[in-house]
Amino acid sequence: MRDADFSTALLDWYDVHARAMPWRVPPDRRKAGVRPDPYRVWLSEVMLQQTTVAAVRAYFHRFTERWPTVTDLAAAEDGDVMGEWAGLGYYARARNLLKCARAVAADHGGRFPQTREALLTLPGIGPYTASAISAIAFDEPSTVVDGNVERVMARLFDIHTPLPGAKPDLTARAEALTPVQRPGDHAQAVMDLGATICTPKSPACGICPLRDPCAARAAGTARDLPRKDAKKPKPTRHGIAYIGRRADGAWLLERRPDKGLLGGMLGWPGSAWTDAPDPAPPLAADWHDPGAEVRHTFTHFHLRLALRVADLPQDAAPSCGTFLPPQQFRPSDLPTVMRKAYDLAAATLGRN
Ligand code: ADE
Repeated sequence: MRDADFSTALLDWYDVHARAMPWRVPPDRRKAGVRPDPYRVWLSEVMLQQTTVAAVRAYFHRFTERWPTVTDLAAAEDGDVMGEWAGLGYYARARNLLKCARAVAADHGGRFPQTREALLTLPGIGPYTASAISAIAFDEPSTVVDGNVERVMARLFDIHTPLPGAKPDLTARAEALTPVQRPGDHAQAVMDLGATICTPKSPACGICPLRDPCAARAAGTARDLPRKDAKKPKPTRHGIAYIGRRADGAWLLERRPDKGLLGGMLGWPGSAWTDAPDPAPPLAADWHDPGAEVRHTFTHFHLRLALRVADLPQDAAPSCGTFLPPQQFRPSDLPTVMRKAYDLAAATLGRN
């Protein structure tokens, strides 16, 4: 099969089976000349890095309702954006999102640049996102390579080199298949194929539009590909979080420094997360152990977070953090690990 025929087979399949997504212009409307909104494409691609489509939908709706354009987002308060992002994880993405929106508003008149090269100059836009936006929003013939695309290429060409070593080869294969016509739909078609048919564990080869040319299907190896180098086991770290509520219902919280894990997010004061955490509380009080700890897994480690909970006097003077009145405190603004801590602690303090 010629390279162009792969893409034709894939696009024919996509014309019928494209998944509906709130940021997407479906193929029939795209052919009728409707163009996707680059702001929505950019926002969805940043949200979709490391996060599933199912998890992203609700966040995408909330962001676009609250900030319908990139200029609206650029004018948002940092804390509001971090709060709406809470739960999506990888919080550097949210800080870069805001920086990027402000750069587009200030330096580009509120319009995203079209080419991969120009997009790469913006904060938080790396090679993957630049390719995705230029292909999907502007129909530039950029090649988009994510985990789905790597899996499809490894199977199509029966490549047994393990990842990440196989990346350059898989990228080159994906580039060779990228068409000049409809590169945006092609990129989304490969993603959809990877998400719905060429799935990791049980690929539905029988209904795949690429079943005839697929080398792994012929060899019976599809299920085993792509191969991956063994992952290093994650270490476990420990920490203590202090959850204090003042007599008037205000919670003692602190905004974490911009740099580092959960940067810019609200959290409970506490120790560093290490092998042996320092148990110093933010103030002397009758801290009690609710008898349950929070377990949470980050990219590079597992965390076991012990909790200390206290009712604090109205004149409490903590060494760190600030009191947030109950009407300004939305548990949903907390990153997931801090939210889990809140859920456990609130059960012992008794909800308001
Ligand atoms: N994953 C990342 N970007 C995507 C997109 N545009 N469509 C479907 N899945 C995706």
